[in-house]
Amino acid sequence: DWTPAHFVSDTVAALQKQIGQRKVIMALSGGVDSTVAATLIHKAIGDRLMGIFVDNGVLRKDEFEQVLSTYRQIGLNVKGVDAKNLFYSQLAGKSDPEAKRKTIGRLFIEVFQDEAKKVEGVELLGQGTIYPDVIESVSVHGPSVTIKSHHNVGGLPEKMHLELVEPLRFLFKDEVRRVGAELGIPDDLLQRHPFPGPGLAIRILGEVTEEKVRLLQEADHIYIKGLKDHHLYSTVWQAGAILLPVKSVGVMGDERTYEFTVALRAVTSVDGMTADWAHLPYTFLADISNDIINSVKGINRVVYDISSKPPATIEWE
Ligand code: XMP
Repeated sequence: DWTPAHFVSDTVAALQKQIGQRKVIMALSGGVDSTVAATLIHKAIGDRLMGIFVDNGVLRKDEFEQVLSTYRQIGLNVKGVDAKNLFYSQLAGKSDPEAKRKTIGRLFIEVFQDEAKKVEGVELLGQGTIYPDVIESVSVHGPSVTIKSHHNVGGLPEKMHLELVEPLRFLFKDEVRRVGAELGIPDDLLQRHPFPGPGLAIRILGEVTEEKVRLLQEADHIYIKGLKDHHLYSTVWQAGAILLPVKSVGVMGDERTYEFTVALRAVTSVDGMTADWAHLPYTFLADISNDIINSVKGINRVVYDISSKPPATIEWE
């Protein structure tokens, strides 16, 4: 019978056999899959696993510091790399969604390879690939058409000539979470919503600037914290705020304002392939709208996305 405990003991033994005395490097994203995979590998080989967590400038508010501190709490050997300015400078002037994705994917690989070079004698690359990724990459990147290029942290190049270590390759998400719980990974990390590799860059429609990232981080933080405080976070598959390239007129006191619009998105789904917009309570939406407009200067209007997938997608880019 499959149990998380059996999976952990079998996998640790298999990893020790595969890796031997060699070193493994791995990109960590703060997400469930890479964290569980890294924790398993760490259990097998200790600090011969070296994790790299890159701040690409489009993470959520305080995410870099919080995730790094959770990693340290778990005991992982992780290096945080602040590459924000590199990403901002290369994103400047780019407004096409695929161009933004490609830029982020390329820079991520560059930063990761630079770090990998600094680790002497590394021979293996850890990855948090799970079973649906294996299937999705076939259907999304298949011979027909590329709908969206999904640059997850998985997309590291074959040319690095590293042997792959993928302990979660045959697991579904719910199994990954059960394994994570068995390994003692904190629940708030295990229950996190999926978050795209290109991060807030694809939730800022059009060109990404540091200032827009800051605005969106504040709005998103209010929304996500509200969902958690109202016990709604775990009822949805994924939620986030989107900064629209639309300014509209509002009033604040006696002043006329002309500021940005934020769209709130929340969906229910089983696998992200199809999704329904979440019927969040009106009272909740009203509170969040007030909080955002009153506390985030630069945003004067909040709208709620009531589109399902298909034909809409979860992300707006
Ligand atoms: P869509 O927008 O296609 O999203 O309905 C489905 C799921 O995939 C995530 N997503 C991405 N993940 N890189 C990623 O790692 C990407 O470029 C990307 N685009 C979408 C999205 O957040 C949702 O969970």
